[in-house]
Amino acid sequence: MSEQVHYSELGLANTREMFSKAVDGGYAIPAYNFNNLEQLQAIITACAESNSPVIIQVSKGARDYANATMLRYMAMGAVKMAREMGSDIPICLHLDHGDSFETCKACVDNGFSSVMIDGSHLSYDENVALTKKVVEYAHQFDVTVEGELGVLAGIEDDVQAEESTYTKPEEVEDFVSKTGVDSLAISIGTSHGAYKFKAGEAVPPLRFDILDEIEKRIPGFPIVLHGASSVVQDYVTLINQYGGKMEGAVGVPEEQLRRAAKSSVCKINIDSDGRLVVTAKVREYLANNPGEFDPRKYLGAARKELMALLKHKNETVLGSAGKG
Ligand code: G3H
Ligand code: 13P
Ligand code: ZN
Repeated sequence: MSEQVHYSELGLANTREMFSKAVDGGYAIPAYNFNNLEQLQAIITACAESNSPVIIQVSKGARDYANATMLRYMAMGAVKMAREMGSDIPICLHLDHGDSFETCKACVDNGFSSVMIDGSHLSYDENVALTKKVVEYAHQFDVTVEGELGVLAGIEDDVQAEESTYTKPEEVEDFVSKTGVDSLAISIGTSHGAYKFKAGEAVPPLRFDILDEIEKRIPGFPIVLHGASSVVQDYVTLINQYGGKMEGAVGVPEEQLRRAAKSSVCKINIDSDGRLVVTAKVREYLANNPGEFDPRKYLGAARKELMALLKHKNETVLGSAGKG
């Protein structure tokens, strides 16, 4: 059992103020996943240098990989690093895809300032009940909560199944009022991972019509977009050039994310793009320097490129640069 700590003791911020400013300002807060030191350094440097608020998020896989206590102290270190850089950007530590009340409670008790409870795979009533339970606990500690309605589509699904997994606009008002969530993740055509759409075919546009319907029913309510990596083709090419095998990897075009960021979408989740950069640069570095065995060399090269990519996202895709 690790000791209890409130997020304010770690210098972290919850999402409430970040989201209200983002909705009013027509931009989205970046939510970048991290699992290790180099990813977190790149995120903090990019966001401090571009003066962008940031959500650093941790999945169940990250907690298993890196240890939850270690991640929490890394987040505290990230705040201190930003302040030492002379930046006072707000930094939120968020649980990504929380799978149970117990996981969410553990995070609330251990310094997270925001949690997601992902009940999207449950029946509507079960999703409401679980999400409400998490909200009631988390709000006692001023920790903000993200819920989800609709399941992100996978490209293997047939059209009918894809249709039925989009968020149903007629459910959102009831869900938000019954649960008390602070933000809502929706499904409008994105999906997780590096293979979002069929390669060689035109990328189908995101369902902005569904987003519009949702906005009409809950005006100004903070909306979250998961599965928002663009799968930058330069990195896919580098990976394939240096021994990888990632043919057919396709993501969401940046223009569509830019359009979403201007709406009430105020949190955009990006993980796969970071993984691609790191893999591409490590492969390239090791192929070109076969005698090198110092991890700082190849991870350093990856960290530098990741930082540049995240700055680009803040500045030209999310519009969060300068909003810290
Ligand atoms: O939404 C999922 C995130 O990309 C985290 O992935 O569960 O492999 O850490 P992970
Ligand atoms: P990507 O796989 O598109 O980066 O999505 C990440 C995500 O949604 C994390 O919750
Ligand atoms: Zn996600």
